[in-house]
Amino acid sequence: MQAVRIHRFGGPEVMTIEEIDRPIPSANEVLIKVLAASVNPVDAKMREGKYPVVTEKDLPYVLGRDVSGQIAAAGDNVSSFLIGDDVFAFLSPDHGGYEEFVLARADEVATMPKSLDAVGAAAVPLAGITAWQGLFDHGGLRSGKRVLIHGGAGGVGHFAIQLAKDKGAWVATTVSTADREFVSDLGADLVIDYKSEKFEDVIEPVDLVFDLIGGETQDRSFDVVKPGGALISTLKEPDKARAAELSIRVGRYTAQPNGSQLQEIAELIDQGKVKVVVAGTFKLSEVGQAQTALKENHIRGKVVLKVAD
Ligand SMILES: NC(=O)c1ccc[n+]([C@@H]2O[C@H](COP(=O)([O-])OP(=O)(O)OC[C@H]3O[C@@H](n4cnc5c(N)ncnc54)[C@H](OP(=O)(O)O)[C@@H]3O)[C@@H](O)[C@H]2O)c1
Repeated sequence: MQAVRIHRFGGPEVMTIEEIDRPIPSANEVLIKVLAASVNPVDAKMREGKYPVVTEKDLPYVLGRDVSGQIAAAGDNVSSFLIGDDVFAFLSPDHGGYEEFVLARADEVATMPKSLDAVGAAAVPLAGITAWQGLFDHGGLRSGKRVLIHGGAGGVGHFAIQLAKDKGAWVATTVSTADREFVSDLGADLVIDYKSEKFEDVIEPVDLVFDLIGGETQDRSFDVVKPGGALISTLKEPDKARAAELSIRVGRYTAQPNGSQLQEIAELIDQGKVKVVVAGTFKLSEVGQAQTALKENHIRGKVVLKVAD
Protein backbone atom coordinates (compact mmCIF):
# COMPACT_ATOMS: atom_id res chain seq x y z
CA MET A 1 0.00 0.00 0.00
CA GLN A 2 1.06 3.62 -0.43
CA ALA A 3 1.98 5.83 2.52
CA VAL A 4 3.44 9.31 2.94
CA ARG A 5 6.47 8.89 5.22
CA ILE A 6 9.31 10.97 6.54
CA HIS A 7 12.78 9.54 7.21
CA ARG A 8 14.14 12.82 8.57
CA PHE A 9 12.71 16.10 9.85
CA GLY A 10 12.51 19.14 7.56
CA GLY A 11 10.43 20.98 4.94
CA PRO A 12 7.73 19.52 2.68
CA GLU A 13 10.46 17.84 0.57
CA VAL A 14 11.13 15.24 3.31
CA MET A 15 7.70 13.65 2.68
CA THR A 16 7.88 10.77 0.20
CA ILE A 17 5.22 8.40 -1.08
CA GLU A 18 6.41 4.84 -0.52
CA GLU A 19 5.15 1.28 -0.84
CA ILE A 20 4.93 -0.31 2.60
CA ASP A 21 3.27 -3.45 3.97
CA ARG A 22 -0.38 -3.30 4.87
CA PRO A 23 -0.57 -3.68 8.67
CA ILE A 24 -2.59 -6.33 10.52
CA PRO A 25 -4.83 -5.25 13.42
CA SER A 26 -4.09 -6.55 16.93
CA ALA A 27 -6.94 -7.69 19.19
CA ASN A 28 -8.34 -4.22 20.04
CA GLU A 29 -7.64 -2.56 16.69
CA VAL A 30 -9.35 -2.15 13.34
CA LEU A 31 -7.78 -1.67 9.92
CA ILE A 32 -9.39 1.24 8.02
CA LYS A 33 -9.24 1.54 4.22
CA VAL A 34 -8.62 5.28 4.06
CA LEU A 35 -10.75 7.32 1.65
CA ALA A 36 -9.72 10.78 2.94
CA ALA A 37 -7.37 12.23 5.55
CA SER A 38 -7.35 15.77 6.83
CA VAL A 39 -4.37 18.09 7.17
CA ASN A 40 -3.81 19.77 10.54
CA PRO A 41 -1.20 22.32 11.69
CA VAL A 42 0.33 19.60 13.89
CA ASP A 43 1.28 17.57 10.80
CA ALA A 44 3.79 20.22 9.70
CA LYS A 45 5.08 20.56 13.27
CA MET A 46 5.70 16.79 13.36
CA ARG A 47 7.36 16.90 9.93
CA GLU A 48 9.68 19.67 11.13
CA GLY A 49 10.61 17.77 14.33
CA LYS A 50 8.95 20.44 16.47
CA TYR A 51 6.37 18.20 18.12
CA PRO A 52 7.89 16.29 21.06
CA VAL A 53 5.73 13.16 20.66
CA VAL A 54 7.60 12.26 17.43
CA THR A 55 11.38 11.97 17.82
CA GLU A 56 14.26 10.48 15.79
CA LYS A 57 13.54 7.03 17.25
CA ASP A 58 10.05 7.06 15.66
CA LEU A 59 11.41 7.51 12.10
CA PRO A 60 10.43 6.54 9.49
CA TYR A 61 7.04 7.97 10.42
CA VAL A 62 3.68 8.23 8.61
CA LEU A 63 2.12 11.68 9.15
CA GLY A 64 -1.59 12.56 9.47
CA ARG A 65 -3.90 12.41 12.47
CA ASP A 66 -7.40 11.84 11.16
CA VAL A 67 -9.13 9.77 8.53
CA SER A 68 -12.43 8.62 7.09
CA GLY A 69 -12.92 5.32 5.31
CA GLN A 70 -14.21 1.77 5.64
CA ILE A 71 -13.41 -1.04 8.05
CA ALA A 72 -11.18 -3.51 6.16
CA ALA A 73 -10.34 -5.86 9.05
CA ALA A 74 -10.94 -6.07 12.79
CA GLY A 75 -9.05 -7.62 15.72
CA ASP A 76 -10.47 -10.53 17.75
CA ASN A 77 -11.81 -8.34 20.60
CA VAL A 78 -13.59 -5.83 18.35
CA SER A 79 -17.36 -6.28 18.28
CA SER A 80 -18.44 -2.67 17.63
CA PHE A 81 -17.62 -2.56 13.90
CA LEU A 82 -18.12 -4.86 10.92
CA ILE A 83 -16.11 -5.14 7.71
CA GLY A 84 -17.33 -2.46 5.28
CA ASP A 85 -18.69 -0.05 7.93
CA ASP A 86 -18.16 3.64 7.06
CA VAL A 87 -16.10 5.14 9.88
CA PHE A 88 -13.92 8.07 10.85
CA ALA A 89 -11.30 8.54 13.55
CA PHE A 90 -8.84 10.84 15.29
CA LEU A 91 -5.76 8.61 15.50
CA SER A 92 -3.29 8.34 18.36
CA PRO A 93 0.25 9.36 17.29
CA ASP A 94 1.21 5.66 16.93
CA HIS A 95 -0.46 5.61 13.52
CA GLY A 96 -0.49 8.10 10.65
CA GLY A 97 -3.44 8.83 8.38
CA TYR A 98 -1.64 9.78 5.16
CA GLU A 99 -1.80 6.22 3.83
CA GLU A 100 -4.13 3.81 2.05
CA PHE A 101 -4.79 1.61 5.09
CA VAL A 102 -4.34 2.60 8.74
CA LEU A 103 -4.65 0.88 12.08
CA ALA A 104 -6.78 2.51 14.77
CA ARG A 105 -7.78 1.49 18.28
CA ALA A 106 -11.45 0.54 18.13
CA ASP A 107 -12.25 3.05 20.89
CA GLU A 108 -10.89 5.90 18.70
CA VAL A 109 -13.31 5.10 15.88
CA ALA A 110 -16.90 6.26 15.28
CA THR A 111 -19.52 5.68 12.61
CA MET A 112 -19.29 8.30 9.87
CA PRO A 113 -22.13 10.87 9.72
CA LYS A 114 -24.66 9.78 7.10
CA SER A 115 -24.97 13.34 5.81
CA LEU A 116 -21.29 13.67 4.87
CA ASP A 117 -19.12 12.20 2.14
CA ALA A 118 -15.66 10.84 2.98
CA VAL A 119 -13.95 14.21 2.40
CA GLY A 120 -16.31 16.04 4.74
CA ALA A 121 -16.02 13.31 7.37
CA ALA A 122 -12.20 13.37 7.34
CA ALA A 123 -12.34 17.07 8.17
CA VAL A 124 -14.03 16.42 11.51
CA PRO A 125 -12.19 14.18 14.00
CA LEU A 126 -9.11 16.02 15.32
CA ALA A 127 -10.54 19.54 14.96
CA GLY A 128 -14.01 18.62 16.24
CA ILE A 129 -12.68 16.71 19.26
CA THR A 130 -10.18 19.48 20.05
CA ALA A 131 -13.06 21.97 20.09
CA TRP A 132 -15.24 19.67 22.22
CA GLN A 133 -12.56 18.93 24.82
CA GLY A 134 -11.40 22.56 25.01
CA LEU A 135 -14.88 24.00 25.49
CA PHE A 136 -16.50 21.35 27.66
CA ASP A 137 -13.90 19.07 29.34
CA HIS A 138 -11.32 21.78 30.07
CA GLY A 139 -13.36 24.97 29.75
CA GLY A 140 -16.48 23.72 31.56
CA LEU A 141 -18.73 25.68 29.17
CA ARG A 142 -22.44 25.38 29.94
CA SER A 143 -25.71 26.81 28.72
CA GLY A 144 -26.07 30.54 29.42
CA LYS A 145 -22.30 31.15 29.75
CA ARG A 146 -20.25 33.53 27.61
CA VAL A 147 -17.25 32.37 25.56
CA LEU A 148 -14.69 34.20 23.40
CA ILE A 149 -13.11 31.93 20.76
CA HIS A 150 -9.88 33.24 19.21
CA GLY A 151 -9.39 32.05 15.63
CA GLY A 152 -13.03 31.13 14.94
CA ALA A 153 -12.65 30.71 11.17
CA GLY A 154 -10.01 27.95 11.32
CA GLY A 155 -10.30 24.20 11.51
CA VAL A 156 -10.88 23.99 15.26
CA GLY A 157 -12.54 27.40 15.58
CA HIS A 158 -15.38 26.79 13.13
CA PHE A 159 -16.38 23.67 15.07
CA ALA A 160 -15.98 25.47 18.41
CA ILE A 161 -18.43 28.24 17.44
CA GLN A 162 -21.11 25.74 16.47
CA LEU A 163 -20.60 23.39 19.44
CA ALA A 164 -20.74 26.32 21.87
CA LYS A 165 -23.93 27.66 20.26
CA ASP A 166 -25.52 24.22 20.38
CA LYS A 167 -24.69 24.09 24.11
CA GLY A 168 -26.65 27.33 24.59
CA ALA A 169 -23.67 29.63 25.18
CA TRP A 170 -23.25 33.23 23.98
CA VAL A 171 -20.34 33.22 21.52
CA ALA A 172 -17.88 35.92 20.49
CA THR A 173 -15.02 35.21 18.11
CA THR A 174 -11.97 36.92 16.63
CA VAL A 175 -11.35 36.52 12.89
CA SER A 176 -9.88 38.52 10.01
CA THR A 177 -12.04 40.89 7.94
CA ALA A 178 -12.74 38.40 5.17
CA ASP A 179 -14.18 35.86 7.62
CA ARG A 180 -16.72 38.08 9.39
CA GLU A 181 -19.73 36.86 7.44
CA PHE A 182 -18.52 33.25 7.50
CA VAL A 183 -18.53 33.05 11.31
CA SER A 184 -21.76 35.04 11.65
CA ASP A 185 -23.38 32.40 9.46
CA LEU A 186 -22.02 29.72 11.80
CA GLY A 187 -23.89 31.42 14.66
CA ALA A 188 -21.37 33.75 16.35
CA ASP A 189 -23.17 36.46 18.37
CA LEU A 190 -20.29 38.95 18.27
CA VAL A 191 -17.61 38.99 15.58
CA ILE A 192 -14.40 40.93 16.22
CA ASP A 193 -11.97 41.70 13.39
CA TYR A 194 -8.58 41.04 14.98
CA LYS A 195 -6.82 43.12 12.32
CA SER A 196 -8.73 46.34 12.98
CA GLU A 197 -10.17 46.04 16.52
CA LYS A 198 -8.79 45.23 19.95
CA PHE A 199 -11.09 42.58 21.41
CA GLU A 200 -10.54 43.88 24.94
CA ASP A 201 -12.04 47.24 23.87
CA VAL A 202 -15.26 45.78 22.52
CA ILE A 203 -16.22 42.80 24.68
CA GLU A 204 -17.73 42.61 28.16
CA PRO A 205 -16.06 39.98 30.40
CA VAL A 206 -16.64 36.34 29.51
CA ASP A 207 -16.72 33.06 31.45
CA LEU A 208 -14.30 31.36 29.07
CA VAL A 209 -11.65 32.37 26.56
CA PHE A 210 -10.82 29.50 24.18
CA ASP A 211 -7.41 30.41 22.78
CA LEU A 212 -6.41 28.91 19.41
CA ILE A 213 -3.79 31.61 18.70
CA GLY A 214 -1.39 32.00 21.66
CA GLY A 215 1.21 34.78 21.89
CA GLU A 216 0.06 38.30 22.70
CA THR A 217 -3.55 37.33 21.91
CA GLN A 218 -3.39 35.00 24.90
CA ASP A 219 -1.63 37.59 27.08
CA ARG A 220 -4.32 40.22 26.37
CA SER A 221 -7.07 37.68 27.05
CA PHE A 222 -6.52 37.82 30.82
CA ASP A 223 -8.22 41.25 30.71
CA VAL A 224 -11.54 39.85 29.49
CA VAL A 225 -12.07 36.81 31.75
CA LYS A 226 -14.49 37.20 34.69
CA PRO A 227 -13.20 36.24 38.14
CA GLY A 228 -14.03 32.54 38.48
CA GLY A 229 -13.79 32.12 34.70
CA ALA A 230 -11.21 30.25 32.62
CA LEU A 231 -8.61 30.77 29.88
CA ILE A 232 -7.92 27.51 28.02
CA SER A 233 -5.36 27.22 25.21
CA THR A 234 -4.39 24.61 22.64
CA LEU A 235 -0.98 26.23 22.30
CA LYS A 236 0.77 27.79 25.26
CA GLU A 237 0.41 27.31 29.03
CA PRO A 238 -1.03 30.62 30.29
CA ASP A 239 0.73 32.48 33.13
CA LYS A 240 -0.42 30.74 36.35
CA ALA A 241 0.72 33.51 38.73
CA ARG A 242 -1.30 36.11 36.84
CA ALA A 243 -4.29 33.75 36.80
CA ALA A 244 -4.09 33.34 40.58
CA GLU A 245 -4.04 37.13 41.08
CA LEU A 246 -7.18 37.46 38.92
CA SER A 247 -8.90 34.37 40.41
CA ILE A 248 -9.24 32.67 37.05
CA ARG A 249 -8.44 29.12 36.00
CA VAL A 250 -5.97 28.55 33.16
CA GLY A 251 -4.71 25.54 31.22
CA ARG A 252 -3.13 24.21 28.05
CA TYR A 253 -4.16 20.77 26.84
CA THR A 254 -3.45 18.23 24.12
CA ALA A 255 -6.60 16.80 22.54
CA GLN A 256 -7.00 13.04 22.95
CA PRO A 257 -8.67 10.58 20.56
CA ASN A 258 -12.15 9.65 21.81
CA GLY A 259 -14.59 7.61 19.74
CA SER A 260 -17.57 8.34 22.03
CA GLN A 261 -17.17 12.11 21.74
CA LEU A 262 -16.68 11.76 17.99
CA GLN A 263 -19.96 9.80 17.79
CA GLU A 264 -21.76 12.63 19.64
CA ILE A 265 -20.30 15.15 17.16
CA ALA A 266 -21.43 12.90 14.27
CA GLU A 267 -24.99 13.01 15.64
CA LEU A 268 -24.93 16.82 15.82
CA ILE A 269 -23.74 16.89 12.20
CA ASP A 270 -26.55 14.58 11.07
CA GLN A 271 -29.06 16.72 13.00
CA GLY A 272 -27.87 19.75 11.01
CA LYS A 273 -26.54 21.48 14.16
CA VAL A 274 -22.88 21.43 13.09
CA LYS A 275 -21.74 22.25 9.55
CA VAL A 276 -18.40 21.00 8.26
CA VAL A 277 -16.47 23.42 6.06
CA VAL A 278 -13.83 22.04 3.70
CA ALA A 279 -11.62 24.80 2.33
CA GLY A 280 -9.85 22.67 -0.27
CA THR A 281 -8.98 19.11 -1.29
CA PHE A 282 -5.69 17.72 -2.57
CA LYS A 283 -4.47 14.32 -3.80
CA LEU A 284 -2.19 12.23 -1.55
CA SER A 285 0.67 13.04 -3.95
CA GLU A 286 0.01 16.78 -3.37
CA VAL A 287 0.48 16.56 0.39
CA GLY A 288 3.30 19.14 0.36
CA GLN A 289 1.07 21.69 -1.37
CA ALA A 290 -1.75 20.89 1.04
CA GLN A 291 0.41 21.54 4.12
CA THR A 292 1.82 24.72 2.59
CA ALA A 293 -1.68 25.95 1.74
CA LEU A 294 -2.81 25.43 5.34
CA LYS A 295 0.19 27.34 6.65
CA GLU A 296 0.39 30.19 4.16
CA ASN A 297 -3.02 30.71 2.55
CA HIS A 298 -6.11 32.20 4.05
CA ILE A 299 -8.02 29.02 4.96
CA ARG A 300 -11.65 28.79 6.10
CA GLY A 301 -12.39 25.46 7.74
CA LYS A 302 -10.31 22.41 6.80
CA VAL A 303 -7.88 21.13 4.17
CA VAL A 304 -8.40 17.47 3.18
CA LEU A 305 -6.43 14.86 1.21
CA LYS A 306 -8.44 12.57 -1.06
CA VAL A 307 -6.69 9.23 -0.66
CA ALA A 308 -9.01 6.95 -2.70
CA ASP A 309 -12.31 7.15 -4.62
N1 LIG B 1 -3.23 21.12 21.66
C1 LIG B 1 -3.92 20.43 20.76
O1 LIG B 1 -4.30 19.28 21.00
C2 LIG B 1 -4.27 21.08 19.45
C3 LIG B 1 -5.24 20.48 18.63
C4 LIG B 1 -5.60 21.14 17.46
C5 LIG B 1 -4.99 22.33 17.10
N2 LIG B 1 -4.02 22.84 17.90
C6 LIG B 1 -3.38 24.12 17.55
O2 LIG B 1 -4.42 25.10 17.62
C7 LIG B 1 -4.20 26.09 16.62
C8 LIG B 1 -5.47 26.23 15.77
O3 LIG B 1 -5.64 25.03 15.01
P1 LIG B 1 -6.53 25.06 13.69
O4 LIG B 1 -6.48 23.69 13.11
O5 LIG B 1 -7.83 25.68 13.96
O6 LIG B 1 -5.65 26.06 12.78
P2 LIG B 1 -6.04 26.78 11.40
O7 LIG B 1 -7.06 25.95 10.68
O8 LIG B 1 -4.75 27.10 10.74
O9 LIG B 1 -6.79 28.11 11.86
C9 LIG B 1 -6.18 29.18 12.46
C10 LIG B 1 -7.10 30.39 12.29
O10 LIG B 1 -6.64 31.48 13.11
C11 LIG B 1 -6.77 32.69 12.39
N3 LIG B 1 -5.89 33.68 13.00
C12 LIG B 1 -4.56 33.90 12.82
N4 LIG B 1 -4.13 34.88 13.64
C13 LIG B 1 -5.20 35.28 14.37
C14 LIG B 1 -5.40 36.24 15.41
N5 LIG B 1 -4.39 36.99 15.87
N6 LIG B 1 -6.63 36.35 15.95
C15 LIG B 1 -7.66 35.59 15.53
N7 LIG B 1 -7.55 34.68 14.53
C16 LIG B 1 -6.33 34.52 13.96
C17 LIG B 1 -6.46 32.29 10.98
O11 LIG B 1 -7.05 33.24 10.13
P3 LIG B 1 -6.22 34.12 9.06
O12 LIG B 1 -6.22 33.27 7.84
O13 LIG B 1 -7.02 35.33 8.92
O14 LIG B 1 -4.85 34.36 9.63
C18 LIG B 1 -7.17 30.93 10.88
O15 LIG B 1 -8.53 31.11 10.50
C19 LIG B 1 -2.99 25.63 15.80
O16 LIG B 1 -1.84 26.34 16.22
C20 LIG B 1 -2.85 24.15 16.13
O17 LIG B 1 -1.53 23.71 16.06
C21 LIG B 1 -3.63 22.24 19.05
